[in-house]
Amino acid sequence: MLDKKVIELLNDQVNKEFYSAYLYLDFANFYKDKGLDGFANWYQIQAQEERDHAMLFIQYLQNNNVSVSLEAIAKPDKKCKELKDPLIFALQHEEYVTSLIHAIYDAAFTIKDYRSMQFLDWFIKEQCEEETNAHDMINKYDLFGNDSKGLYMLDNELKQRVYSAPSLTL
Ligand code: FEO
Repeated sequence: MLDKKVIELLNDQVNKEFYSAYLYLDFANFYKDKGLDGFANWYQIQAQEERDHAMLFIQYLQNNNVSVSLEAIAKPDKKCKELKDPLIFALQHEEYVTSLIHAIYDAAFTIKDYRSMQFLDWFIKEQCEEETNAHDMINKYDLFGNDSKGLYMLDNELKQRVYSAPSLTL
């Protein structure tokens, strides 16, 4: 039986992950409108991964006989103007998500909820990867994105990204 506070945080995280998917879809649409299909592809796949994260939290709760409560997903609130804006917002957002995962871990740790800690281990690693990817995107943009030929090549590189299912199975 999971603790009430941990359940509440895990359930909130379902919403946060769906919001992340929505945010990244918004970024994908921004790039699509600019004709940068590679950047759009990268964020569409990112959105798929976030949906997977939400489903993992749902599955974990259900595996522990908890009823999941779905709340309204907020409208993406980042106003992108420059091509680099989504990249900066994405890094800020991932740092925020990391803080949320850590807060759930803290709650589980406090009450010695080893099961939830083990489940969250995967997300702690995943957040490290997500932040690194977000940093890399900014670095690449700074290196190549300011000249049209470089931007074209970077966009082509990002077109190659393919979706892969999460390595965590429950
Ligand atoms: Fe669900 Fe981008 O972390």
